[in-house]
Amino acid sequence: MANPSLLILAGDGIGPEVMDEVKRIIGWFGDKRGVAFDVSEDLVGGAAYDAHGVPLHDDTMAKAQEVDAVLLGAVGGPKYDDLDFSVKPERGLLRLRKEMDLFANLRPAQCFDALADFSSLKRDIVSGLDIMIVRELTSGVYFGEPRGIHMEENMRVGVNTQRYTEAEIERGARAAFELAMKRDKRLCSMEKANVMESGILWRDVVTEVHADYPEVELSHMYADNGAMQLVRAPKQFDVIYTDNLFGDILSDCAAMLTGSLGMLPSASLGVPMENGRPKAMYEPVHGSAPDIAGQGKANPIACILSFAMALRYSFDLGAEADRLEAAIEKVLADGARTGDLMGPEGGTPLSTTQMGDAILGALDASL
Ligand code: IPM
Ligand code: MG
Repeated sequence: MANPSLLILAGDGIGPEVMDEVKRIIGWFGDKRGVAFDVSEDLVGGAAYDAHGVPLHDDTMAKAQEVDAVLLGAVGGPKYDDLDFSVKPERGLLRLRKEMDLFANLRPAQCFDALADFSSLKRDIVSGLDIMIVRELTSGVYFGEPRGIHMEENMRVGVNTQRYTEAEIERGARAAFELAMKRDKRLCSMEKANVMESGILWRDVVTEVHADYPEVELSHMYADNGAMQLVRAPKQFDVIYTDNLFGDILSDCAAMLTGSLGMLPSASLGVPMENGRPKAMYEPVHGSAPDIAGQGKANPIACILSFAMALRYSFDLGAEADRLEAAIEKVLADGARTGDLMGPEGGTPLSTTQMGDAILGALDASL
């Protein structure tokens, strides 16, 4: 049987640097665990724009539809700030999400014990934190029509539309309930039903889906209160289900609880393909970090943890994912730190490659 296929789209900024470490990890699993992948690579974002004049070439889109999973680094950078909106690097990423129909975006926020002091919150508020944000990723205000900037009575008007069908809300809700069933069986749905009709529908549909998951304790929260609760007492949450825009914002907030944006992976999952695997793309939550790009100091952990999510959610290799996550936990416990993880006491940060070396060493030690 052919090996499962991976398409790597490293993208812009620190994307290529952190993805280099992921490639070494992929190689390790092939050599040492007999878990081999057919890996191909292509361009996305500004890198694709530089080569083709578009942030995602049609051929790349077609490849992404065919492979078993896409691994994405990051897109964007100041070089592309003045480009026309339609060819901005982010459009490439959004096209992938939309055309692959990756409706369920899983963003786990876990606080590694060794990093609890790096959080902007006190240790006891974040230590042991383990929450999963499920963000609806293919609809809402990111894609709703009408949209655009037009003239009205000599004045420019900007329009975006928050639009959700019940089917869209429902399929994301099912993904969230399924995850809750495998975790602590608590789901908190967040919207703004106090001001938005789409929020009222959201709350109704999630409540209807709940009937199929009676074991899960469901609660509802206005998203603004949710943001406040996330920084007040984040451990009250198990799984959070929310829309595309609120999910974008709340997940950045949750990321910071864990100490560094450089630690957070994500999985974007769609409907099952013929081989039973969900359409899937894995990417770190951090962006392209242009301020440190090309200097070899970016933290590769979020991107490596995204590959761990691929092992778990696309390839049913939960034990290998555990092995990789444990290796990361081990190097952090042993004091390995990239620049983003330096405390006030300072010290010499590891380079991106040195962090990769440390994780490979811990993987070897795990055999
Ligand atoms: C994210 C990012 C993207 C988003 C950008 C890069 C388009 O912020 O994945 O959270 O807004 O979804
Ligand atoms: Mg974001």
